[in-house]
Formats: sequence, structure tokens, C-alpha cells
Amino acid sequence: MTVSLQDPKHTMAPQKTVSIETYGCQMNVADSEDMLAALCDEYTLSTSAEKSDLVILNTCHIREKAYHKVVSRLGKLRLLKEKHHKLRIVVAGCVAQAEGKKMLRSLPMIDIIVGPGRIHDLKTLLKDHERYKTPQLAIGFPKKTTPTTDTQETQEPQTKLHLHPGKNPVSRFVTIQSGCDNYCTFCVVPHTRGHEISVKQEDVHKKVQSMLARGAQEIFLLGQNVNSYGADLLREGIIQASKNGPFYDLLTSLLKIDHHFRLRFTTSNPHDFTYPLSQLFRHHQRLGKYYHLPVQSGSAHILQAMKRKVTPSEYMEKISWLRESIKDMAISTDIIVGFPGESDDDFDATYAMVQEVQYSFIYAFRYSPRNHTPAKRFAHQVDEDIKAKRLLALQQLQDSITCKLNEKEIGQTREVLFLYPSSKEKHAYYGRTEHFRLVKVVSPKQPLTGKILPVNIIKASKTTLEAQLLST
Ligand code: 5AD
Ligand code: SF4
Repeated sequence: MTVSLQDPKHTMAPQKTVSIETYGCQMNVADSEDMLAALCDEYTLSTSAEKSDLVILNTCHIREKAYHKVVSRLGKLRLLKEKHHKLRIVVAGCVAQAEGKKMLRSLPMIDIIVGPGRIHDLKTLLKDHERYKTPQLAIGFPKKTTPTTDTQETQEPQTKLHLHPGKNPVSRFVTIQSGCDNYCTFCVVPHTRGHEISVKQEDVHKKVQSMLARGAQEIFLLGQNVNSYGADLLREGIIQASKNGPFYDLLTSLLKIDHHFRLRFTTSNPHDFTYPLSQLFRHHQRLGKYYHLPVQSGSAHILQAMKRKVTPSEYMEKISWLRESIKDMAISTDIIVGFPGESDDDFDATYAMVQEVQYSFIYAFRYSPRNHTPAKRFAHQVDEDIKAKRLLALQQLQDSITCKLNEKEIGQTREVLFLYPSSKEKHAYYGRTEHFRLVKVVSPKQPLTGKILPVNIIKASKTTLEAQLLST
């Protein structure tokens, strides 16, 4: 779905068209929207590359598979460019940062390479490309430690706004921190997104307020490790140390905003996740009843080799904090199977942890060796067929847990924020409960998008609950 909000005073649509294809995480979706915002005076958003003058691929480098998808997509775009000579191709995101120089040499269909630290230069790069007729490359990270209070970065464009295809005006992402300083031994992110840089509290507020003013009902705060938000601001002396830390302070300040909206955040490193933060859920309905806490493995020595800085028992203690705060807290996680040195016993420990925590869902991946990361050079790499078997076993276990938990929802009253209409079923709307479960409601009498309403759950499958509106 593509939505474009347009101010009636500015109805002259720009001549040129842009389409964007985003791979990977929510941070990339947020970056894509920032790029579209910068271009919205000159370009109209198009839904397909075939109808575009400019195509942006915002790429992901986290696993090998994501990288191959981009290269294969570029092959198809090359054929399109042969027919449509004016087409411009931009490769943005983490692949651009990691492989950009090499790609410019070997893939001549690319016009511009722009890394995640340079997306605000996109407009200038397009101008330079037009002027000099040569490929442009902008990678690396700005020297400044914290983004400026530049209105382009903290305010949404007032005249017109391109939302990302598939996104809607109801739930919006706000990046509060870029980069990562954790250097988990499997992860390429610190190399592709650089050091942690936090957005100042006042700038986060400006962005949130400007989204709420445009009808957002849910704000998702984004960072690679939101729990260490502000560590750089403290180091620089930009903010003062406080009892519960800068992320807690940011959340409590956002919880004071006098407006009805949901506030969520992702993603957390368990190492930095604190008890006071876990207890905020108990007192603030606005935060919902859902937490994503990536564990990666249930084995102590694998966690150590991954440099995750928590033991399985410390992780389980943090899970118990969350369930002390909200008894039926829905929890999800990320897991890597087949990390170098992972034995059957190590995998069994992960399997047992998944059984014990009873996650509402998991993102499970086969370990993928990445350039620049220490784990790529570790001994005892695991065979691909063993990784595949372990992944399947874990997914089957989780499927049975998810089905069981979803069935327990039948008969419950839940509060749903409706996010978008079904593209297939007339009068059907999808939304999420406070536990972040996806719900479908059929409502012929009134459109539901953007509303928060109580429902009664009547049916459950692995992926979706079905519900009826409670008569109000
Ligand atoms: N191989 C497999 N999965 C990975 N992730 C990060 N790096 C890799 C890798 N090299 C997973 C982790 C992380 C999620 C975003 O992606 O589980 O939490
Ligand atoms: Fe990667 Fe670890 Fe940082 Fe997450 S915390 S982005 S897994 S290095």
C-alpha cells in the first residue's frame, strides 16, 4: 500500500517519479522515509520501478542472503535501464556502506552509492550526478557526535509527505539512535552503521510531536540498542547522569505527552536492559504488554563467544522482571543457530530456553559468516545441513507455542489499534493488540483504520487472531 498525504494548497504534483525498495530492518524503513521526505518537492512516489525515473534500493547486509537479493535485483534493473535510459539507480543502506566502492567498479548500472551515514546528502548527490554525468559515492560517517537540531531531520515536511510503501500514517518510526558499539562477534552492523549516535531528547520530542500532529497513533522508537541510548551524550557532557539512565528519562518524558497514543521501542540488548525500565510497563498502559529481547543463544559458552555480555541465567532473570511487571507480558526474541562451535548440547540449551520462556514469536536465523566480523574466522564452523535441521526444529517448537498462546486468546477482550485495511477482503481491517498480536476484524458499518477499540477474540491461527468489535 502506498499513501501520500498532500496539503490541498500544494496540489501541483512534481514531474519526476521515485520508487523505493527497502530490505532488512525497521531502521532501513525509517531511513527510506527520510530519503523520500528529502525528495518529496521534486518527485512523486511511484509503486514500481518500471514507472520511475529514480529507483532507490535501500539494502541490508546482515546475512549473505540479503546481499544476494540486492545483486539479483540490480541485474533486473540493468535490463530496465537499457530500455529507459533516463532511469537513475541509487544503492543506499548497509550494502552501500560495506561494498559500495567494489560495486561501483563492477556494476555499471549503479548511478549513486549512499551509505546509511550519508542519506541526508542524497539530494546533492543527485544534482552532482546530473551535472558531472559520473557515478557518485558517499559512504562513511559524519564526524559530529550528535545530529543537529536541523529542521529537516526533526520535522516532517509540512507540505507533503511520502510514506514508505506498506507503511501507514497510523504507526510511525522515530530513529533515536544510529550505529552500535557492542561488536557482537557475528554482527556486521557496527561496521555498516558506525558508532552509536543518539538523537537529543528535545529533537526526539519534536519529531514525535510532528508525527502526532499528522495523525500518528503509535510511535515506534528505533535504535540498534535502545537501552544504551544517550551513552554518547553523557560522554560528551551534553546531558547529565541520572538515576535510571538516559533511555528511561527519554521514555518517561515521552509518556508525559498529553495525547492518546501507543509508545513502543526496539531493539534491546539484554546486557543494558534494567529493572527500573522493566517496571515502567506496570504503570503505563501506553507502553503495551510486549517486549522484544534478543537472546541469540541459550548456551553460556556460545553467548560468551558471541560477546553478548550476559549469561543465560542473567537473561532469564530479566525475563522474570518483565513478567513481574506484566504477568502475561508477550515476549519475542532473535536466535542464531549454528554459530561456530555450537554443539548438540549448546543447541539443546537454546531449545530448552525457547520452551521455558514461551515466546509469543521468534526470529530465528542460520548463522551467516560476514566479512569484518571475528566469528567468520572462528574454528569449528557448523555445516549448513546441521544449521538447517536445527532451524527447522526450533521453528516447529515455536510454531506449536505460538498456536497454543494464540488459542488462549479466544474469549479475551483486547484493545486493538487498527493499522490498515485488508487489501484482499472487503471491510476487513488489521490491527495489533496491546500484546502486539495481529488481529483481523470485519466492520462493514465503519472504517477502523487509526482507531483504538476493544474487541472480543473469536478465532486464532498461527499468524492472526480474528475478533469482533465490542459494542460500545
Ligand atoms: N548471521 C545470522 N543472523 C545474524 N543476525 C545478525 N548477524 C547475523 C549473522 N551474521 C541476527 C541477530 C540479530 C538480528 C537482527 O539478526 O539475531 O539480532
Ligand atoms: Fe549487532 Fe550486537 Fe549491535 Fe545488535 S547489539 S546491532 S547484534 S553488534
